[in-house]
Amino acid sequence: MNVLHICANPRPVQESVSKQLATAFFMRLAERNPDINVTNVDLYQSPPPFLTLPAFRCVWQPLTEPGYKPTTGEYNATAYSRQQVEQLKQSDVLVLTMPMWNYSMPAIMKAWLDQVIIPGGTFAFEEGGAKPLHHLQKVVLLISSADDFKEEDPRDGLTRELRATFEFIGVTDISIAWADGQYGHGEDEAKEHKEIATETAQDIADEVAEMTTPVTEG
Ligand SMILES: Cc1cc2nc3c(=O)[nH]c(=O)nc-3n(C[C@H](O)[C@H](O)[C@H](O)COP(=O)(O)O)c2cc1C
Repeated sequence: MNVLHICANPRPVQESVSKQLATAFFMRLAERNPDINVTNVDLYQSPPPFLTLPAFRCVWQPLTEPGYKPTTGEYNATAYSRQQVEQLKQSDVLVLTMPMWNYSMPAIMKAWLDQVIIPGGTFAFEEGGAKPLHHLQKVVLLISSADDFKEEDPRDGLTRELRATFEFIGVTDISIAWADGQYGHGEDEAKEHKEIATETAQDIADEVAEMTTPVTEG
């Protein structure tokens, strides 16, 4: 079983609640199933490029221009995207760690998504919708925010966007450990919410540890 961990937080772990959730998650996972392979990508150590015009053309032009062939420059502009897509396609579970910034995900995480949620990469357009070109079974979100968020909160542009994005490419199993109320609500509430989120992260790790890799045909 392969787990891909994408982390979008520049803060060191001792200062970051979301990274501490990730530590709790991966410690529990290793304890419960030491055979799981984990690949860590720290986006602040190796930042994704924003989608450029040459990369855009290489990826999206075939949809609207039959017979289109990318130039060498256009093809080369997709090097990061191709490498990250390959990594994602070898994964069974994807874990995304990040804080909420401006009611959404950090821009660096969005830049990564724009590089990997691509036609011919992780999905193919078909009549009636998108067909998955990956075998991801589950996405786990480990997040932290200052404010309290109840389910379906209209201010939440983070989990809603990620849920919609992964459902689009065929992943409906999305688990969330969210340490909300981390600033401005008093230390007791912050501590209590963090403890609950940590337990949730560990429970999700237990689930992932029990998962098996499906036998693929062919
Ligand atoms: C640039 C920036 C924007 C933020 N925007 C929000 C926000 O929209 N809503 C919110 O609840 N908290 C917001 N916060 C607070 C963080 O989400 C919160 O402090 C969180 O616990 C940080 O996670 P970390 O400890 O893993 O870095 C923001 C913080 C920063 C630095």
